[in-house]
Amino acid sequence: MIEEKTPLSEIMRQAYRQGILIPAFNVAYIPMIKPIVESLKKHCTFGLLEVSRPDVEKFGAGSFQEVAEKYYALGERIFTRLHLDHIPVIDEDGEKVDWEHLIQVALDLKYDSVMIDGSRLTLEENISVTRKVVEFTHSYNVPVEAELGAVLGHEKGPLPPYEELFSSKKGFTGVREAERFIEETGVDWLSVAIGNIHGAISGAAKDKKKVSARLDIEHLKRLAEVTKIPLVLHGGSGIKRSCLMDAIRNGISKINIGTSIRQAYEFSLRDYPHDITTAQAKVAQEMERLIKEYEVEGSWPTFQEILEILRK
Ligand code: G3H
Ligand code: ZN
Repeated sequence: MIEEKTPLSEIMRQAYRQGILIPAFNVAYIPMIKPIVESLKKHCTFGLLEVSRPDVEKFGAGSFQEVAEKYYALGERIFTRLHLDHIPVIDEDGEKVDWEHLIQVALDLKYDSVMIDGSRLTLEENISVTRKVVEFTHSYNVPVEAELGAVLGHEKGPLPPYEELFSSKKGFTGVREAERFIEETGVDWLSVAIGNIHGAISGAAKDKKKVSARLDIEHLKRLAEVTKIPLVLHGGSGIKRSCLMDAIRNGISKINIGTSIRQAYEFSLRDYPHDITTAQAKVAQEMERLIKEYEVEGSWPTFQEILEILRK
């Protein structure tokens, strides 16, 4: 079918041009795959299923292979695509990662897009690694996402209070750096830091409700002006709705959501141990809440909009 063949690079290009937001949902546990995909289908919308190295290492996503097998077995390619999220060069614990191997694994498993995360490197190193990944991954016709600046929150230890972080612009993506980064790497999509932060993934903090982050839209506008490629908003759980709507109008084409659906799954299992079915229902409920909350103002793609993109 024509819809199934449309490459994700083209879907994202069209989403960027038309001001449509493509949501991407992290699989922290294998049984989450089903309710994520089924919710997208039920509500006639489109999104990415994504899995990151932290999802595999810190939670219960099993392996990139297991996720791909379960995903492809569901066969819902009209409503979804499969993205490899956060492959850090240096991970949240300061350890070096064999990123080349992990990206090769994902390409062999037919992931539709990959992310290389060089946000803990210097600008020069980030450019050099990202360029390498782009050259290699493009030979498979697979698009690449990278991060510039740092979306904080995955690292162990407390962050400064959110307002302090926001006003100091700690980790924010630099405008001149972004312009240079894109020119020198040829990356397809860029994850930017503009006030968004990741939900915690270790210790007691991973169970806490995430702070409701806001976004520096003026800063985003400056980034969008020089980048001219789809920009990605990580740390999507709990972002203030009005900020998100403004962000979509200013170059944000993809949002990553992890914490809110992971916690729905984990908290349910805490209340009803071993009851996977109830935990899956809680994920579906949270998906529904997210879809309804953001779809109301037409920010998420309607099925019709996606079909139009897929048929181009
Ligand atoms: O890459 C994963 C996302 O950025 C998820 O962020 O867990 O804060 O929703 P979140
Ligand atoms: Zn992220």
